[in-house]
Amino acid sequence: MELKIPNHVAIICDGNGRWAKERGLARTAGHKAGSEIFTTTIPEIFKMGVKIVSVFVFSRENFKRSKEEVNFLMDLFVKLFNTKLKKYKETDIKVVFSGTDKPLEDRVLKAMDKIVEETKDHTKHILNVCLNYSGDYEIVDAAKKFAQDYKAGKVNLDDLTTDSFYNYLYQPLDPIDLLIRTSGEYRLSNFMLYQLSYAEICFPKTYFPDFTKEEFIKCLEEYSKRDRRFGGIKDEDKSN
Ligand code: IPE
Ligand code: MG
Repeated sequence: MELKIPNHVAIICDGNGRWAKERGLARTAGHKAGSEIFTTTIPEIFKMGVKIVSVFVFSRENFKRSKEEVNFLMDLFVKLFNTKLKKYKETDIKVVFSGTDKPLEDRVLKAMDKIVEETKDHTKHILNVCLNYSGDYEIVDAAKKFAQDYKAGKVNLDDLTTDSFYNYLYQPLDPIDLLIRTSGEYRLSNFMLYQLSYAEICFPKTYFPDFTKEEFIKCLEEYSKRDRRFGGIKDEDKSN
């Protein structure tokens, strides 16, 4: 079967806690195992020709979790950006972030800035890390940015189109072609609501720490069979 390679893949990283529970481990062990995917599966996805990968690693709503779990995740992110993603320096992967700063701690923001700076000249691939991110906030923030530009006389109302709106989002990326949510949950959880308008969706049962290249290929096989019409109809059906 010939695999179609999507331009922009988005992944909702889910199931770390259940992965750990099934092994009699603490939830944190699941998060640690999940973080390995950034140096195993993610580079493989780029090698297969995908240009952009967006990953949902922490939502604004995740701050509702226990202090211990949130702190562990923040430590893990700092380590991930300072050490694991450093390997991206030798690749052509540019790291960008989507989300808001508050209430992230300075040490987390610093580690984020550093990896962005270290990879900013890379052009072939983009890893968009959604951290302290929520889709409805992103749309409201974009509307506010446009309103400010309008008020400042920089743009006219007619300059705002469904395409130009992308430039007001946290990152001006292409629309998403394929969304994968691991762990068998069937929800969007406030992830990239604008960019997902016409995405194909795949829900593998696999927990995120087990999301190997083989699991990704299974999603690609499913994606390749889909008939993407973007609201239109097939040419051969146009006569009736
Ligand atoms: C995803 O795994 C990681 C984050 C949301 C930070 P979960 O922590 O949601 O794992 P489950 O859903 O409890 O198994
Ligand atoms: Mg979950």
